[in-house]
Amino acid sequence: MAKTILITGGAGFIGSHLVRLLVKQYADYNIVNLDKLTYAGNLANIADIENNSNYEFVKGDIVDTDFINELFKKYDFDSVIHLAAESHVDRSIESPMDFIMTNIVGTTNLLNAAKHTWEGSFKDKLFYHVSTDEVYGSLGAEGMFLETTSYDPRSPYSASKASSDHIVRAYHHTYGLPIVISNCSNNYGSHQFPEKLIPLFINNIKNNLPLPVYGKGENIRDWLWVNDHARAIDVIFHKGKNGETYNIGGHNEWTNIDLIKVICSVMDEKLERPEGESEKLITYVTDRAGHDMRYAIDATKLQEELGWVPSLQFEEGIRNTIEWYLSNEEWLTNITSGDYKEYYDQQYKNR
Ligand code: NAD
Ligand code: TYD
Repeated sequence: MAKTILITGGAGFIGSHLVRLLVKQYADYNIVNLDKLTYAGNLANIADIENNSNYEFVKGDIVDTDFINELFKKYDFDSVIHLAAESHVDRSIESPMDFIMTNIVGTTNLLNAAKHTWEGSFKDKLFYHVSTDEVYGSLGAEGMFLETTSYDPRSPYSASKASSDHIVRAYHHTYGLPIVISNCSNNYGSHQFPEKLIPLFINNIKNNLPLPVYGKGENIRDWLWVNDHARAIDVIFHKGKNGETYNIGGHNEWTNIDLIKVICSVMDEKLERPEGESEKLITYVTDRAGHDMRYAIDATKLQEELGWVPSLQFEEGIRNTIEWYLSNEEWLTNITSGDYKEYYDQQYKNR
């Protein structure tokens, strides 16, 4: 059935993979990608599908209430898949207000517009909120996050995402808005802004720069290939139950230091450097404030109820990812020089 779907944050890392998947897979859907093109948004991430007839890009800010209301008037959206967010923990420590505005106020603007537009007939409508496992807090050595785990966010980023999750659920319980929420573990793959651990360290190794490991490098993250996250969103969007939450993860826990050593070893091989050369760049630095110790997702509900399983093993995924960053030097250079942003600001300043 034809649908007009608003995807927010589709020029970012995960959003670009999701937009590509849906545009290619569902020719009869109209996909509208709304993105502010912050430092993290980059139209180069989706250049390959920009001319598809079922795809349109709109530049705009979800915090701008009037703009959002006008957008919902212009397009008769059937569904929203909401990914736009400020997403980096370190930036949230430096500038929490950006996170409060986009992640909480922006999400509420979208909820209000959806509620207002769909009021009276919520049938076949859906507000899909994409969230993170970080809302559950920090684990010790044992246990995993379930959908029923109490929220215990500890960074301004995770607190702002937790807040938005609560507001989305409140609109479901109070107004009957049809919603689903998914909470995913750390993603890795192509097109990730090189402020996050994996692309940052690949870029630094390439340029012979120090690898700043926070604390002792013993913190644990649960890594999932970004395309498997996009596949999970597709499955939940089509088959998820109204009002439900689904955890997404790949049962793939790594201490930071072990993961970094794998990256160093693959980089030595790819750059034809002597074995052990890249590891010499490892530099232990002051820990992140409030650094969560361990994340681990139990994705049994998604696997058993909706039949999703990850498609790619980590060893293969991390090699592919490293190869992508090494063979897309221009993408990486543009992003790290900041030129790309000036270019796109110029391109869209009168729209
Ligand atoms: P990202 O930072 O790469 O991309 C975010 C996108 O949102 C960018 O394109 C940016 O321009 C856009 N954006 C930011 N503020 C906006 C605003 N006010 N209005 C419109 N657009 C705006 O983030 P990502 O890693 O792709 O994450 C996407 C979503 O998935 C986020 O909601 C994040 O919380 C969630 N998530 C991320 C991970 C992860 O590992 N990266 C894991 C689980 C969940
Ligand atoms: P990050 O990619 O920022 O994701 P998140 O904090 O949302 O999990 O960081 C992943 C892990 O890597 C986290 O434990 C912090 C650590 N880290 C470093 O040790 N050094 C760095 O320079 C960065 C960016 C992260």
